[in-house]
Amino acid sequence: MTALLQVKGLTAGYGGVPIIEGVNLDVAEHEIAVIIGPNGAGKSTLLKTIFALTARSEGSVSFAGSDISALKTAELVPLGISMVPQSRNVFPTLTVDENLDVGTYAAPPRDKDAVREKVLELFPDLRDKLGQAAGELSGGQRQMVAMGRALMSEPKLLLLDEPTAGLSPAYLEIIFDLLLNIRKGGVTILMVEQNAKQALRIADNGHVLVSGKNFVSGTGEALLNDDAVRRSFLGGASA
Ligand SMILES: Nc1ncnc2c1ncn2[C@@H]1O[C@H](COP(=O)(O)OP(=O)(O)OP(=O)(O)O)[C@@H](O)[C@H]1O
Ligand SMILES: [Mg+2]
Repeated sequence: MTALLQVKGLTAGYGGVPIIEGVNLDVAEHEIAVIIGPNGAGKSTLLKTIFALTARSEGSVSFAGSDISALKTAELVPLGISMVPQSRNVFPTLTVDENLDVGTYAAPPRDKDAVREKVLELFPDLRDKLGQAAGELSGGQRQMVAMGRALMSEPKLLLLDEPTAGLSPAYLEIIFDLLLNIRKGGVTILMVEQNAKQALRIADNGHVLVSGKNFVSGTGEALLNDDAVRRSFLGGASA
């Protein structure tokens, strides 16, 4: 079976300076895949390049069997790709409900109310905050708004850049549980995570990116048990 997302030899960067080089990555349908690696490795750049927010100089990206390398972000959303960026991922002065609505602009769902209801079932905490400015919410709640917004276009593939950044360990578990629920709903997830150990535990496959290049890939379990990966990227202790 071909992968839902296929990244081949992808090179991209800023102002002509390559940041990621020759990156290969396959994500199967209904998979949770995680990208880990040191700060500055190019993890965000890789996600942004897949979502056409960073200029690609070489390589290709395919989605559901079609080459999408030349498409713009606004064309990727209707195809079923959505992204939650690493930071500043809500509109702070808009209400929670307005933030969710923004998620429908690029690809209006057939039944917006039904999709909104589904999103609120996933994130019940947001229900009594719908009229509140998103900027007034806690970090964890803002992350739920950002994920909810991304789900409003009914994506097949959700790209998440550090969904648990800055959250307490308790919230971290809540977010990871939510990701499992989102996947249950038929969504494929490719995420970048600094909480590597926890992320690999829920991931089907993991990819370590170092200095913009593939370092090692494997199942979540294999990476958790890989001595070199453990020493360099998982804080050394046993998984
Ligand atoms: N908009 C930009 N313009 C120029 N350089 C950038 C830009 N965004 C990122 N970079 C550079 O690209 C490199 C990789 O950054 P990137 O954000 O992709 O790393 P990362 O692996 O996501 O790091 P982190 O774990 O800190 O989020 C860094 O050296 C960074 O300075
Ligand atoms: Mg990053």
